[in-house]
Amino acid sequence: MPDFFYSYLYLMKIAILNGPNLNLLGTRETEIYGAKSFQDYFSDLQFKFKDLELYHYQSNVEGELIDKLHEIGFDYDGIVLNAAAYTHTSVGIGDAVKAITTPVVEVHISNTFNRETFRHQSYISAGAKGVIIGFGLDSYELALQSFLTA
Ligand code: DQA
Repeated sequence: MPDFFYSYLYLMKIAILNGPNLNLLGTRETEIYGAKSFQDYFSDLQFKFKDLELYHYQSNVEGELIDKLHEIGFDYDGIVLNAAAYTHTSVGIGDAVKAITTPVVEVHISNTFNRETFRHQSYISAGAKGVIIGFGLDSYELALQSFLTA
């Protein structure tokens, strides 16, 4: 079968990985993170990005996030990672991002640079392909766009 046929059929596989407390989006500190649940937002993304095969995983456990990066990080075409509070503390997640071959785009809903100083440090950024910060939930959409255009 000719190459163009395969490229026509192939949907890029992109995973969105969310870290601790992001399961509470929609009810958690809504003045910072907004009133929409991630489940609802993810459905919107699936509707908007029909040309992508989207997968979502959330965990409150550091090791589970590392295991997930290992599991999908040699196979997926892209990972959108919001490591949430672990962004600022986890050498282990930072090392996992460097250890895998799938490009990772780091995202944050809030602008971490106009918040507390401890949120200015990221252990993820050095290994990331790029970083999108502060656009609300749209940060995830911008990250997906980056995989389509880059
Ligand atoms: C966050 C910012 C982090 O500092 C915080 O711990 C989060 C969410 C964001 O998306 O804005 O849980 O990653």
